Amino acid sequence: MKRGFGIIILFFLFTIPLTLLVSGQSKYPFDYEQLSEDERLVIRFSHVVGEDTPKGMAARKFAELLKERSNGYIEVQVFSNGTLYKDGEEMNALSRGDVQVIAPAISKLTEYVPEISVYDLPYAFHSLEEVHTFTEGVAGQKLTERLREFNLYALGIWDSGFKQMSNRLRPIQKLEDLKNLSMRIMPSDILAEQFSILGAYPKEYDFNAVFHELQKGSFDGQENTLTNITSKNFYSLQDYLTISNHGYLGYFVLFNLDFWNSLDEDVKQLITDTYLEVQEWEWELTEKLNENTLQEIEQCQCIELHHLSDEDKILWEEKFEPLYDYYIEKYGDELIKELPKFKSKT
Ligand code: LMR
Repeated sequence: MKRGFGIIILFFLFTIPLTLLVSGQSKYPFDYEQLSEDERLVIRFSHVVGEDTPKGMAARKFAELLKERSNGYIEVQVFSNGTLYKDGEEMNALSRGDVQVIAPAISKLTEYVPEISVYDLPYAFHSLEEVHTFTEGVAGQKLTERLREFNLYALGIWDSGFKQMSNRLRPIQKLEDLKNLSMRIMPSDILAEQFSILGAYPKEYDFNAVFHELQKGSFDGQENTLTNITSKNFYSLQDYLTISNHGYLGYFVLFNLDFWNSLDEDVKQLITDTYLEVQEWEWELTEKLNENTLQEIEQCQCIELHHLSDEDKILWEEKFEPLYDYYIEKYGDELIKELPKFKSKT
């Protein structure tokens, strides 16, 4: 008798919350903390950067808010610093369903959707706001559709900011100073071309290998955002840093599409609403963190810092113009013409 009663209680304990959740009558009314991992919705989120970078902090906030708002039913487990999957591994892990969400740098998606390298074009954007407008417009929609062909569902974009250049050999003030330097890049033919046209040597390396390879002297320099440069301590191995803001680095936040489609509608809604709130927060955070990091670098006097003059910026931008023709030749002008700098002229 007692055992039967226990079973009935257990049955109600587990089924009522889930039934209510599915029927949408009352969302997440119970405390799911008491349930095992099998009974919660576990979403594994893998990324390769440090915890205190914009992506690292946003991933944590996304997890915290979803847990709170679902009373613990949705558990986003965040694996930072490439501890679960490294740069070159996370896309495959997502396709296999070993993780459910990742936020790779957009350049790393060029292997799947090559035209996404429009984001890599130097001086394609002059502010993060321009990036967001571009992404929320026609170009972003087209790219999101293309990503679906690879079973990827893009929730939106997170920023890391604009890239700066560091190296160990000489100050980079003019683009000519890059001649003969070997520079680490992310996998993207536009990034490779960006250095090749200047007579520099692009070298592709995974993010998690950069520090070690810099130590070994495998290349002279690299381009990255300030939060990535400092959080991974690259600047301790480099002597010169140029604040060039020449290129954008950001992330598409991607779910495995099959996994996404398997979710209940109210779960999808909660994830989407929470994501959008976190995205706004992440965008502001990125601006602040990059500003603070620049101040810290200015104060630490640990690397020789160069700012481009307004004249230099114009010259740099002009010098990169052939890259736009190169892009159009390979991928057409469908996306390029949506860039704010061209749109405002039409
Ligand atoms: C890089 O490889 O330099 C970046 O993509 C790392 C990141 O995810 O910000």
